[in-house]
Amino acid sequence: MKVEFEEHGTGKPIVLLHAFPLSRKMWQGQIDPLVAENCRVILPDLRGFGENHNFADINTMEDLAKDIGEFLDNLKIEKAIIGGLSMGGYVTFNLYRLFPEKFAAMILADTNCAADTDEKRESRFVLIEEIETDDSHALIKNMLPNLTSEHTKTNNEALITQLREEFSSVKPKGVIAALRGMAGRKEHCSILESISVPTLLIFGEHDKVTNLEIAQQMQSKIKFSTLQKISNAGHYSNLEQPEQFNKNLVNFVQSIQI
Ligand code: MLT
Repeated sequence: MKVEFEEHGTGKPIVLLHAFPLSRKMWQGQIDPLVAENCRVILPDLRGFGENHNFADINTMEDLAKDIGEFLDNLKIEKAIIGGLSMGGYVTFNLYRLFPEKFAAMILADTNCAADTDEKRESRFVLIEEIETDDSHALIKNMLPNLTSEHTKTNNEALITQLREEFSSVKPKGVIAALRGMAGRKEHCSILESISVPTLLIFGEHDKVTNLEIAQQMQSKIKFSTLQKISNAGHYSNLEQPEQFNKNLVNFVQSIQI
């Protein structure tokens, strides 16, 4: 499976997996600070998003993780700092379960180890029906209002406009396949205690999709972990408060030897 990606810099490999329904572009604000820390920043587009036009009826989180495992093998990267935000985190959990040896460290941003509740799963099927009739407008209407903090809505009109544009340009087929994949995803809370690499959990304090309580529960089970709270941010913590996010990310990356 061909994975479109970009890479920047040389040194410690760090792979960042994007959220739904975004693309690798969501990490643009993290590139320069990481390159300045001698990192090789690797940003793939997950199946069905950005320039990755591999569509299917369903793209499971495990499929997405297998793509990334193969992609790392193709790049001859044996070990990397690997992480993701929200859906990118779901893929990260699957990747760790399948290929723990590829991890030097893990980053879990605004994500959750649990599977969908019945109610959440049902809401995804409703959203799929709406996308089938109304394209990505359904995403803007249903998802966008919940994703950012009130602070972002009031103070960062440019980001809201950018997100609206990105949501408008997604491919409905890719989005539907990922919604089905997320609805059926396995729980990974049962593997938290087996995670043996240093792990950074990083969450927006006003995240309403996941939340700090979930973050604290996960952190209490992961042996070598720290939790950083990003103030004034919602679910898209790296986009909403890049400076705070990058400070924590860089501190963590500095502590990892590969
Ligand atoms: C994301 O940001 O990737 C999504 O909100 C994840 C989800 O819908 O569970």
